Amino acid sequence: MAQNEQKQAAAQAAIQHIPVGCIVGVGTGSTANYFIDELAKIKHKIEGAIASSDATAQRLKHHGIEVLDLNNINDLPVYVDGADEITEHLHMIKGGGGALTREKIVAAIARKFICIADQSKLVNILGNFPLPIEVIPMARSYVAREIALIGGQPALRQGFTTDNGNVILDIHGLQIMNPVELEATLNQITGVVTNGLFAKRGANTLLLGTDSGVRTIT
Ligand code: 5RP
Repeated sequence: MAQNEQKQAAAQAAIQHIPVGCIVGVGTGSTANYFIDELAKIKHKIEGAIASSDATAQRLKHHGIEVLDLNNINDLPVYVDGADEITEHLHMIKGGGGALTREKIVAAIARKFICIADQSKLVNILGNFPLPIEVIPMARSYVAREIALIGGQPALRQGFTTDNGNVILDIHGLQIMNPVELEATLNQITGVVTNGLFAKRGANTLLLGTDSGVRTIT
């Protein structure tokens, strides 16, 4: 199966995990886009969606799916999103598409996080994919220096502004042996809005598209 077919297969499998009548949290990226296209087929069975980015909100609306305000929601049964890297412990690097902060907010509220991914995303150790950090623009150089002190090589994502008006530093050269600890450490740096480690709140289930079908890891 080609990579895109694996993404689509994972997205199709996620539909089985959507309770009837619920509000669905929806992630960002090419795999999440496949999920939105599948969700459109059952849109009459859901109450609406919470979008993790402007791009996702646009795609949901294009399909006629109502996009709700997270501030009016008390309970979010499920959040479906992709990842840039994920381990068997269901810790992730996210933010390749730059939507990490809103993704983390939606994930924090969701009772269940279902990660959908193609098999290339499953890794033993996180860090080969540069770790994205959303930073307040005036703190960019300071945060970059602090990251260098802990052994990372930060690179400003050129020509990119997040939905929240901030910049992204992508940290290269990390081998992340303790994702929960590093996630907390990075969040302590003044000027950091969020980092792309989803470890304290990882996924609950991974639906992994592979050459031999969709593998479920919980
Ligand atoms: C966006 C993300 C995406 O989930 C991640 O980049 C994976 O994207 P794709 O499904 O296109 O491989 O975190 O901020």
